[in-house]
This record gives sequence, C-alpha cells and structure tokens, in this order.
Amino acid sequence: MVVRALRWVGAVDGFLELIDQRRLPGALVKLRCTEIEQVYEAIKTLAVRGAPAIGVAAGYGVVLGMQSCADDKNSGQGLACLAKSCDYLASARPTAVNLFWALERVRKKGDEFVAGRTGADVRSLREAILAEANAICREDIDMCRRIGENGERFIKDGSGILTHCNAGALATAGQGTALSVLFEAQKRGRKFKVYADETRPLLQGARLTAWELQQAGIDVTVICDNMAGWLMKQGRISAVITGADRIAANGDTANKVGTYSLSILAREHDIPFYVAAPSSTFDLGIQGGAEIVIEERPADEVRSFGESKVAPDGVGVYNPAFDVTEAGDIAAIITDRGVIEKPDTAKIAEHLR
Ligand code: MRU
Repeated sequence: MVVRALRWVGAVDGFLELIDQRRLPGALVKLRCTEIEQVYEAIKTLAVRGAPAIGVAAGYGVVLGMQSCADDKNSGQGLACLAKSCDYLASARPTAVNLFWALERVRKKGDEFVAGRTGADVRSLREAILAEANAICREDIDMCRRIGENGERFIKDGSGILTHCNAGALATAGQGTALSVLFEAQKRGRKFKVYADETRPLLQGARLTAWELQQAGIDVTVICDNMAGWLMKQGRISAVITGADRIAANGDTANKVGTYSLSILAREHDIPFYVAAPSSTFDLGIQGGAEIVIEERPADEVRSFGESKVAPDGVGVYNPAFDVTEAGDIAAIITDRGVIEKPDTAKIAEHLR
C-alpha cells in the first residue's frame, strides 16, 4: 500500500497531519499541525517536502491561518487574513513552483467566493478555502496515478533504473511522480532494478526513496551520488528518471542538486533521461532555467549529519538545494496529460493548452 504523506483531518476547524520525513527511515512519526506557523516550519525544515506535497500542505496551511480570523469578522477582513497567510507561506521555500501555484489557487478562490456573495461571512469563506485545498489534494492524487500510467512503458523488463532524491508518495499527496512510473510498471508484472542515489546532503534518496521502494517490494540498491557515472559505464543503467521542482516554458527543469550532473552523464553514456511531473510543476511565466530561483540552504546541513560532524566547524560551505537540467538533455517529460518527447517551448505550450 502506498504511504500517505499528508492529509487533512476533520472539517473546517480540523488540522493537517503529516508524516515527519526528517525522522524517516528510523521512525514513522506523524506531525499534527494546528497552526499555520507549524506548516511553515514543516515546509522549511523538510518535515514535508517534494514539490507537489509542499503545494498541498500550503493549501491546508492557509485554512489553518484563517482559523485565527474570528467567524464574526467581515469578508474584507477574511480576505486580508487570506492574503497574509498566503504571503507568509510563500516565503517558506523559493524553488518548487507548486507552492506558489497552490497559494495562488486558494487566493483566487477566496476572491471569487467573496465577489459572488454580498455579506459573505468568514466561516463560509474558510469552508470555500478548505474545499479548494481538498480539490488540490484530490487532483494531485489523480495526476500522480496518470503520470505512472503514461510513463510505465519506459520501464522495460530486466532494466536498471537510476533515480535521484525522492519523487515518490512521500513527495506528493498520491503515489509520487518518478516513482509512480515504477509502481505502475511493477503492477504490470515487470521486473527491474532501481538504483537510488543517496542524495547528499539530506539523503532523501537513501532515507526516503529506498524506504518507499523497499516497502513496495521493488528491488532497490542505494549508491553514493558520486557512483552514478561508473554504474552507467558498467552498463547497469538503462534509464534515469527523476521528479521536478519547476519546469520552465522551454523545458529546462529544476530538481534536487545532482540531477544536472546525472543528465550530463546520461547524455555521455547514451542513456535516456526522463522527468516525471504534474502539470502544476510547469511555470510558463519563465522562459528558461536561468530565471529559476535556486534555494540555498544552511551550511550546517553539509558540515554535519544528525549529531555527527562531517567537516570542520566554520569551514566554508556552498549548499544550493537544486540545479537546472537543460531541456536538450531530457528525452521526455512524462506528465498527467501524456508524454512530451524531446521537450521544447512549442511542444510544452501545446501539451498544456
Ligand atoms: O528539497 P526537497 O526534498 O523538497 O527536493 C525534492 C525534489 O527535488 C524532488 O525531486 C521534486 O520535488 C519532485 S517530487 C515529486
């Protein structure tokens, strides 16, 4: 059974429950968020992570933010509270576009709701926002399944598949993006081997992808990030598949740092490189990857792991969380709507129309 990374519990006065991904694979612990500040902190510290999951969490975070606005306030005050909640959550992380996409959806929903009703009360506005957050969640579950169905044919019997970071159920509300493709291939009886890059510095590959695939009974082997090229040279890798945090209009794709190097290695070894992502991860407002803001994370994530130091105190560190893979190095982008082979601006515009 696929794990459920997050869910809303109860009605409009309910709360958001998340798997605390900082604790995996050691412990499967659920976090109960009853205030917007807890959702902000969960996103910032990667308790909830992965572009689609961040978007879904943010939608519910806004519902929590609006719980602090008393029911007897007028709709204008309700909309002010909505805007404040959206602005606050938008500052949690900069790269994954799903965060901004989801916040824009709930903001728009609030405006439409109030515009269509004279004297709308705050409670019904909150209910409308919860309904929109639920719709975002449901749609994500559906998009994940479709991505898997659209991409499973790329996973051949007997193949070796390399993936980076975690683009599984933990990163979405549903069964993942890149891993959804693998789950759907498995359902169809195909046998294949997955290599999971450990994904320094926070080890999403080793901790999360390996855990998810092991739970699902898929043959998974963890490798250190610097081993990928050698495995390709040895002929162990038939395809690379990753998720995405933001895809520009021309197909340039931001994903976890290390993805770019894999795309170059794949090109060098003539191995197809696939990206799997929902429509919500495209940002047609930017033409190319150079415009994507890359998050820089704290130096201590690199200097230490948990309680253990892995570099001297105070040593200089550069810690970009993402990099950008060029569209020309992507064999295909697999989405909930189908497959964009050799992506470019025209094909992406047509695909998303
Ligand atoms: O920093 P993270 O763990 O949020 O980074 C996640 C990734 O880079 C994923 O590959 C991406 O969000 C796609 S998840 C379906």
